[in-house]
Amino acid sequence: MKAATVVPGRPELSGVVELPVPVPRPGELLVQGLLVGFCGVDRDVTERAHGVLPPGRDRMVLFHESVGRVVHAPGVSGFQEGDYVVGVVRRPDPLPCEACAAGQWDFCLNGEYTERGIKELDGFGAQQWTVEPQFAIKVGPVLGDLGVLTEPASVVAKAWEQVDMIGRRAYFAPRHALVTSAGPVGLLGALFGTQRGLDVHVFDRVAEGLRPDLVRALGATYHTSLEDLGCDPDIVIETTGSGRVVFEVLQHTARNAITVLVGLTGHHRTVPFPAEAAIDNELMLDNDVVVSSVNANLRHYNQAVQALGGADRKWLGSLISRRIPLCDWTDVFDTGPDELKVVVDLQT
Ligand code: BGC
Repeated sequence: MKAATVVPGRPELSGVVELPVPVPRPGELLVQGLLVGFCGVDRDVTERAHGVLPPGRDRMVLFHESVGRVVHAPGVSGFQEGDYVVGVVRRPDPLPCEACAAGQWDFCLNGEYTERGIKELDGFGAQQWTVEPQFAIKVGPVLGDLGVLTEPASVVAKAWEQVDMIGRRAYFAPRHALVTSAGPVGLLGALFGTQRGLDVHVFDRVAEGLRPDLVRALGATYHTSLEDLGCDPDIVIETTGSGRVVFEVLQHTARNAITVLVGLTGHHRTVPFPAEAAIDNELMLDNDVVVSSVNANLRHYNQAVQALGGADRKWLGSLISRRIPLCDWTDVFDTGPDELKVVVDLQT
């Protein structure tokens, strides 16, 4: 079988290799890989050595956003041949720490967790892959291969759950939500916001095309400047990771606002910034919370499947802007400014 492999930090070694079909360990599922989705972390793994090779290996199968169909399932696994499944990215650290032991590997305390396609485990960018049933998420046939959006949606689900939990600290009756960037994660963030009945605003620098259209199709409002929001958001889902955007956003939030950072840039730029004025005026005197949120546990994957199930299928399909055959998978790195989710078709 063929697989998309990388050597972290050596992008010139990325390619397609022939690997033996994996043999499931007792209890595991064997899955025919259908699609994998590309995100900025895949670029960081490949180009900036964010990734860590599995011990003793000289290359790793890339990609952590997956969907496939079960080829073989043990009788007691809860899965059947033909089921659509998504693999969970993170595995608890082996100790495990108290958080991992409680099923909250997304809050791992010692950093010894592993991640498929990112840290010490092969990813899902292969024509067949195996997965432990307790780390496999079933998606219904209606969602089908759009299940590839489950992993990014799980990250968004966790961000919204953070809002709910932090909101309980005091009186909190949010009306306006702002999502920064109308990339795939931002659009999913906006979807969750509209599903909650909030007045959702999305900020992105791209003025025309699919991004504003998809935002408006949700009933949300699109902005290319934060100056014309027309409201003070109570909630911000920040997906750009840009230091400049984060600090600009804080100047526009309502009192008691909750801002969740879910974006990573991979860059470490210096942003000139009046730190003390911002702490006084934008955070302290407003009771504002800025919280970061990474990864997702099983609960968030299930919330993601539910949210995607409640979305318009055509709208979800439009989030996939390009399908690349496995043989050309390294084209994922050539993304245009208007690109949304680029997926690799593992069977062509
Ligand atoms: C993934 C997370 C992962 C993080 C850091 C993200 O792209 O969605 O599951 O924890 O990268 O490696």
